Amino acid sequence: MNRDVKSIVSQMTLEEKAGMCSGADFWHLKSVDRLGVPSVMVSDGPHGLRKQDENADHLGINESIKAVCFPAGVLSACSFDRELLHTFGDAIGKEAQANDLSVVLGPAVNIKRSPLCGRNFEYYSEDPYLAGETAAAFINGVQEHHVGTSIKHFAANSQEFNRMSASSNVDERTLREIYFPAFETAVKKAQPYTVMCSYNRLNGTYASEHPWLLTDVLRKEWGFEGYVMSDWGAVNDRVPGLKAGLDLEMPASDGMSDKEIVKAVQDGTLDEAILDQAVERILKILFTYADNREEQEFTMEQDHGLARHIAAESMVLLKNEDNILPLKESEKIAFIGGFAEKPRFQGGGSSHINCFRIDNILDEVKGNPMITYAKGFAADTDVYEEALAAEAIEAAKAADKAVLFLGLPDSFESEGYDRSHMRLPDCQNRLMEEILKVQKNVIVVLHNGSPVELPWADDVKGILEAYLGGQAVGGAVADILFGKVNPSGKLAETFPYRLEDNPSYLAFGDPVDVDYTEGIYVGYRYYDAKHMDVAYPFGYGLSYTTFAYSNLRLDRQKMTEKDTVKVSVDVTNTGDRFGKEVVQLYVSDKTNAARRPLRELKGYEKVALEPGETKTVTMTIDYRSLAWYSTELHDWYAASGEYEILIGASSRDLRLTETLTLKNSTLLPLNVTKNTTMGELLRDPRTAPFLKEWQAKMLSVFAAPEDTPKEEASASEEAISEEMNDAMMISMPLRNLVTFGTCSTAELEKLVEELNRL
Ligand code: BGC
Repeated sequence: MNRDVKSIVSQMTLEEKAGMCSGADFWHLKSVDRLGVPSVMVSDGPHGLRKQDENADHLGINESIKAVCFPAGVLSACSFDRELLHTFGDAIGKEAQANDLSVVLGPAVNIKRSPLCGRNFEYYSEDPYLAGETAAAFINGVQEHHVGTSIKHFAANSQEFNRMSASSNVDERTLREIYFPAFETAVKKAQPYTVMCSYNRLNGTYASEHPWLLTDVLRKEWGFEGYVMSDWGAVNDRVPGLKAGLDLEMPASDGMSDKEIVKAVQDGTLDEAILDQAVERILKILFTYADNREEQEFTMEQDHGLARHIAAESMVLLKNEDNILPLKESEKIAFIGGFAEKPRFQGGGSSHINCFRIDNILDEVKGNPMITYAKGFAADTDVYEEALAAEAIEAAKAADKAVLFLGLPDSFESEGYDRSHMRLPDCQNRLMEEILKVQKNVIVVLHNGSPVELPWADDVKGILEAYLGGQAVGGAVADILFGKVNPSGKLAETFPYRLEDNPSYLAFGDPVDVDYTEGIYVGYRYYDAKHMDVAYPFGYGLSYTTFAYSNLRLDRQKMTEKDTVKVSVDVTNTGDRFGKEVVQLYVSDKTNAARRPLRELKGYEKVALEPGETKTVTMTIDYRSLAWYSTELHDWYAASGEYEILIGASSRDLRLTETLTLKNSTLLPLNVTKNTTMGELLRDPRTAPFLKEWQAKMLSVFAAPEDTPKEEASASEEAISEEMNDAMMISMPLRNLVTFGTCSTAELEKLVEELNRL
């Protein structure tokens, strides 16, 4: 049905229009029955439905309907698989239709700046490209069912502490390159129905009333067409918020802010057209859902199976010494650790699902006489219990292999607060020490929402990062441990050795002003720039088979800013079992035109290969793949010159390299003043020839006269070497041409004018 939304809005009273701009209650929008506007419901999100009916709250205290808990963002992003994320979204879209939900509040795409952020488990990655691609695929899947998504939390909400008031202070280049692209990509590739603004302030201004953020960047630059809603309680001042581009305030505000809007229109401080526009945006989305209701058939049982599949396709095998995995049927195995019985598979807070079923690994292996279980420690505390430990040590001793199910208790990480350290509970590390004394074949399965320190990593033989795998986690872990599924997940974040290694270590967690001092050097961008050893790098993950890379080729060696380049590489499964590999493409800027990370992810593809099979993987890159954000140009910019295209199996396992040359007809604007340095002008092809003349004149002023006696000349050379002369020249501002007598003030002014005209 083609609704004339404008006409509906024109028939609304001022009060009805203001009312549409805030919730009816915690989860519903208001209705206007006389105009056929129904009340629709929104609900969390992102990895399952948390639909609450009565006595709603937003912290998950009240029961929500039974639903399927899919893997959390921390895990599904490790699949590096757009198709899988699309299927995931498709299931959520169907479930939402069947449950009368117009918008699912997610995906959550904030960048993992620090391993400490309590909500990292919901977020996808430390890398903006991966987060954006993952989000776009998920959103497209959901929205195919005319159910909206609310990509959140826009923007720079990378800490939980004081999230409702602290200011994320981030320079523009860093915002554009690190904290914005996940949203930008999602808007451009998937047009989410709604965007949820974050609680925090951005450079001093609340995100909920930030016109540059909500209107200039989001709508005018990226072309967002849906409506912006506030995070729950994120509104600071309603009328400025509406003017800035915040269409819907959630939840209900007891009619208070509706009154403020009405008053502002009446006293002329708010143009009614702004209100109309917000209501139009909300209604357009509302009717896209309401006019396209689908009869949906889904069974939770089936989606449980999908949750298991997504989890198994995403888990990351971190270590597999001596091919300790997969486990063999003939082996005596001891399962140890409270997480085997009570896996941690989702995080706390607004994303918490009331699961219709939970699979643990013990149920999966029930009746298998080769497997014993000893609890060892409780999953929800950090208490070393001698009796439990003794039993576990005995079990480990009696087995061929011991599998320890370790992880973070719920209280260690949650929405609402950040972690204070990166360690596992002490009781788990202590038990591990004891077990290693009696058993050399130890495998670890980790249940955590963000990186942990692994002090015993060198001493165990296998590590499977299961993260928070959703309600079917037990089955997914079993599939991998017993080799039914060959692991193919890759880390979407770096595991540093120590928390102190993280670039935000000194600047994370301020109560008021959170200064993003590390700038663009987030995650691997920092560790790589510092050539720092890490426990497990971004993009890393093992398989039960092996892959060889060959024949990297570009369909063109040279490009202009308008071209795209197809990058192809052959990948062969060189092992003896079916497996999937995530082929990663990184770009390294060799032009020295700006400070850049050593390399950045700009493409990836997951490829499935039978043993011995070879497939060609093709990825496309464009000008933006090479570019950084120039605040001078107010645009993305890549200088002419060489770029390395690196292909590999992780950010630190780069197998093949090709060079691409860019010829860019755009140059950064010249903005020469008398304080511009000679070096800067010598580096610019436009000004270099000019400057060379002046440089020569300047050098002749410094040069010793020809008739200087030899000893004097060499003494002065010792004092001021050629290298020093060159270096001085490069850092010298133009005004020194006058100071050192090379030209007059008038000549300098003319020179500056001429240079700016070039
Ligand atoms: C969270 C959002 C969530 C909302 C509704 C807020 O506290 O930050 O992510 O969607 O509550 O539950």
